[in-house]
Amino acid sequence: MKKVSVCFVCLGNICRSPTAEAVMRRLVDEAGLSTHVSVDSAGTGDWHIGEAPDERAQRAAAKRGYDLAPLRARQIAAEDFGTFDLIVAMDDANVTALQQVAPSAGRDKIRLLMEFAPHAQERVVTDPYFGGDAGFEAVLDQCEAACSGLLSALRPRLAD
Ligand code: 4NP
Repeated sequence: MKKVSVCFVCLGNICRSPTAEAVMRRLVDEAGLSTHVSVDSAGTGDWHIGEAPDERAQRAAAKRGYDLAPLRARQIAAEDFGTFDLIVAMDDANVTALQQVAPSAGRDKIRLLMEFAPHAQERVVTDPYFGGDAGFEAVLDQCEAACSGLLSALRPRLAD
């Protein structure tokens, strides 16, 4: 079986992408694929490097059994396009920022997370940072739906 690696990317790497990382890691573990699918996250910005996820994101995730506490924010780098098979962005601004960082050969690795939840209403995962708790619940709902679709989409690559 082949290996696949995925890096989720948002702006700060303290709300959306660490949530997606934890959701995807649990789905991968539950599927018995943790030695074949590696999961990470990063931000396009540098403001929160080294910080743990936002407390509101940690609280909302903990209610669903996800532990975000060990994660630390980092900034995406050009080398990540060599390391990862897919770079999965939360919104259009992330995609634009990633296109500026990516070596030209790596640009086709960039996807929007919500592409993997084609029945969802939303095209993007909206930034919850300046809003209330409901935004963090919505991020979890979207990540759970889309990461499930993403894992299904990865299965043929693993079987190659
Ligand atoms: P994230 O949320 O991109 O989902 O981690 C944000 C975190 C921090 C900021 C914006 C969005 N900020 O402006 O510091």
